[in-house]
Amino acid sequence: MKVLVVGGGGREHAICWKLSASTKVDQIFCTPGNGGTANCSKTKNVAIDAMDFAQLISFSHGEKIDLVVIGPDNPLAGGIVDAMEEAGLTVFGPTKAQAKLEWSKAYAKDVLTKLNITTAQFAVASSQQTAEAIVKANSWARVIKVDGLALGKGVFVCDDQEACLEALDIVFKSGKFSDKKVVIEEKLIGEEISLLTLCDGKTIVPLLPCQDHKRRFDDDRGPNTGGMGAYAPVQLYERNKAAIENKILVPLQKALSEGKFSFKGVLYIGILMHQDQTKKDKLEPYVLEFNARFGDPETQTILPLLQSDLYDALYACTNGTLAPNQMQWSKQAACCVIAAARDYPQSSSKGEMLQLPQTTDSTLIFHAGTKLTDDGQLVTDGGRIFAAVGIAENMAAARENAYKFLSQLQNENINYRSDIAKRETWQSK
Ligand code: AMP
Ligand code: GLY
Repeated sequence: MKVLVVGGGGREHAICWKLSASTKVDQIFCTPGNGGTANCSKTKNVAIDAMDFAQLISFSHGEKIDLVVIGPDNPLAGGIVDAMEEAGLTVFGPTKAQAKLEWSKAYAKDVLTKLNITTAQFAVASSQQTAEAIVKANSWARVIKVDGLALGKGVFVCDDQEACLEALDIVFKSGKFSDKKVVIEEKLIGEEISLLTLCDGKTIVPLLPCQDHKRRFDDDRGPNTGGMGAYAPVQLYERNKAAIENKILVPLQKALSEGKFSFKGVLYIGILMHQDQTKKDKLEPYVLEFNARFGDPETQTILPLLQSDLYDALYACTNGTLAPNQMQWSKQAACCVIAAARDYPQSSSKGEMLQLPQTTDSTLIFHAGTKLTDDGQLVTDGGRIFAAVGIAENMAAARENAYKFLSQLQNENINYRSDIAKRETWQSK
C-alpha cells in the first residue's frame, strides 16, 4: 500500500515511523515532511504545502495513493478531507464540518452541552462590549478563548476581572486575531489528561491516555507552547477511568450510534480533572476542548507503545470497520521531552547545523523543526526542534533514558524542560 502523510512536524514523523513498521505499507510520502521523515524507512519527502489541496490531490492520483493521513489542524479546517474525498481518494481525517469541533470553540461547547458532557460554565460573545458585560456580571468568568484556530495563542487564563478585560482588549483591539468571537469560561483547577480516540463514524476507541506539559519552563512556569513534553501511561487516568468512561466516552459512543454525532478520524479530548470545592476530595472529569487531529507531542509519546498495526487502524476508520479491540498497547512507559530553540515560543531557529547523539534501543527521536539541506546536512528549521522519547519498563527509567540521551546533545541554542513526567514515578514504586 502507498500512504501520503500530510504535515511536517514531530507528529507526522512519528506517524510515518509507525506506518513504516506495517508489513502492509510499501511506501510513504510525507508532504512537506522534515529532516527526520527524510531519513525514515520507506518514506520520501515531497515539497508540497499542506494547504495546497489541488497539488496534493494531483500528486495522490499520480502515485495511486491508497490512504491519505492528515496531520495538522489548518488543512482540516480548510476542508482538505472534503476536497480529497470528492476527488475519489481514501482519507483518514474529519470533514470540515466535523473538524468544527476544533476550529470553533463555541460550537464545541454547544455539542458538549447537547450531549450532556460536563464542561466549564461558559458564555459566548461576538463583541467586546458584550464580552465585557459578561465578565463584569459574572464572578465565574475568568478564561477568555478566541473562537477560531489561533496556534494555541488564543486562550487567556486570568486571575481576576481586570486581567480578563485586558485579554479582551488584546483579542478585539490588538489586531493579532482576525476572529472576533470569544468564549468566556469558568476557571477550573486541576491536572489535565489528553485522551486521543479513533472514530470511524460509528465506533469510538480510546488510545493510550497521555499527559502533556504545555508551559515553556519547569514547574509549569512561563508562556503556553505547543507542548514541551508528554508521558504515558498516566496514573491519574487509571484512578479515574470509570468516571471518564461513563461521563465522556459513553455519551459520545451513544451519540455516534444514534446518529446524533458524526466524526471520523482522531477525536482528541482535552480533559481536566477538576476538584469541585463543594465535593471535597472528589475529582470530576471536565472536557476542556476537542481537537480533530493527533496531538503533538502526544503522538510521539504513545505511538512507540502501540503494538498493533497503525495502517490497519487508520484504514478501518475510513470504511467504518474499527474494532473495539483494534489498538493493542505495550505495558511499558514512555517519556517524551521536546528540545526547543532557546527563545521558543517567541522565536525559532533556522539554518543552524544540528548534530544529534546516537539513539539506543530505549530511546527514539522524532524530528520537528529540522530539515536536510541540498547537500544532505541536517539543520534547524523551527521552534520545537525534535522530541527525545525514552522507553522503559517504568516511568522513572523512561525519564532517565530520555534525559541521558539529551545530556549528550552539545548545542547551547537548544534547551528543554528538565521535569517532564517527574510527577509520575508511580510505576517504579
Ligand atoms: P484549550 O486550547 O481550550 O485546551 O486551552 C489551552 C489551555 O488553557 C488548556 O490546556 C488549559 O491548560 C488552559 N485552560 C483552558 N480552559 C481552561 C479553563 N476553563 N480553566 C482552566 N484552564 C483552562
Ligand atoms: N499537545 C497539544 C495539542 O496537540 O494540541
